[in-house]
Amino acid sequence: MSIQKVLINEKTIQERTRQLAEEITEDYQGKKLTLICILKGSIFFFTDLTRRINLDTELEFVRISSYAGENSTGDINLKVDLDNPVTGKDVIVIEDIIDTGRTLSYFMKHLQKQKPNSLKLCSLLDKPERREVDDVKVDYTGFTIPNRFVIGYGLDLDEQYRTIPQINCIINEDEEKQIDKDSRVIKKQLLKKD
Ligand code: IMP
Ligand code: MG
Repeated sequence: MSIQKVLINEKTIQERTRQLAEEITEDYQGKKLTLICILKGSIFFFTDLTRRINLDTELEFVRISSYAGENSTGDINLKVDLDNPVTGKDVIVIEDIIDTGRTLSYFMKHLQKQKPNSLKLCSLLDKPERREVDDVKVDYTGFTIPNRFVIGYGLDLDEQYRTIPQINCIINEDEEKQIDKDSRVIKKQLLKKD
């Protein structure tokens, strides 16, 4: 029987989001920043992160899809594009998870063609074991996670589970102990407070 188990709890997500917002605020002092939300998966991460960035910002939304069930179709679809091109702007793309990397490889090239002043990528989660491309560099990573399908905090399985406030794995009962172990390892990625 499949069950859900917490991989990253709400408090850990919020703490890491706060740390990333501080880092971005420091890195872009004195600049106006354009933040791009990739719908739908990064909606909650985007709203939590951007409200903590203490800079002059402009928000943009795009919609890209590539997934059916637990598998990437590899067929990238830009369903909603930017209102305005990012020419000359300082841009950070905010994504929920980098898996094969195909979606972001495609989208970052799409943006580069518009000649932004700078272009970076921030992803809440990274599953490097699954990478199939070598041209995606994540500049700001929330958590590096093992090769498991995750849901919640925006992430879905066929449009279900997005509103769960934490990040869960769907597992078999005999995997529970392994998830507890994975969860402890992930928590250690929080930056230590002085
Ligand atoms: P990529 O193109 O394979 O890197 O896939 C990126 C997109 O696939 C993400 O924006 C997610 O929407 C989706 N995705 C990848 N892994 C997961 C997962 O574990 N759970 C839910 N969605 C996922
Ligand atoms: Mg998705």
